[in-house]
Amino acid sequence: MKLSSKLEKVLNDQVNLELNSAYAYLGMAAYFEHTAFTGFGKWMEVQSKEEIGHADRFFKYIVERGGRVTLQAIAEPKRDYKSPLDVFKASLGHEQKVSAAICAIYELAGDEKDYATLSFLKWFLDEQVEEERNVSDILAKLELIGDNRGALYQIDKQAGRRAEAAKS
Ligand code: FEO
Repeated sequence: MKLSSKLEKVLNDQVNLELNSAYAYLGMAAYFEHTAFTGFGKWMEVQSKEEIGHADRFFKYIVERGGRVTLQAIAEPKRDYKSPLDVFKASLGHEQKVSAAICAIYELAGDEKDYATLSFLKWFLDEQVEEERNVSDILAKLELIGDNRGALYQIDKQAGRRAEAAKS
């Protein structure tokens, strides 16, 4: 059962979006390392590696289904942000965009009655719920503390610990 050319195209676009996500998060990690928020930096580094894993899943799936992987250019990531809050807002916006893209592929697969693709995408639907939740949790804390530097330091440390745990 070969992929339709329409599905092959959107799955390739998704490889690109996931790799763009990886690069965007690496850009956020670089910003945090530069501004001495090393906990958030580690968190973003882990996030970036996860995105590469997501791209790899799409890559392998296209190949498994007899499609052709066509890699596209990756955009230069944003370099500067106003604050950690600003970064996590951008991160949530990005995850929402990824979720919408995955839902659009799901809809197309449904229209085409491509049940294998619907099954493959299920993991991503669940993953997006978790990804949006993880970012929203940190965002909510950052919104709550406002300008409290001590609390910000604590949240940065917590984020670093979570990143270390995710690596091991
Ligand atoms: Fe792969 Fe965070 O979406």
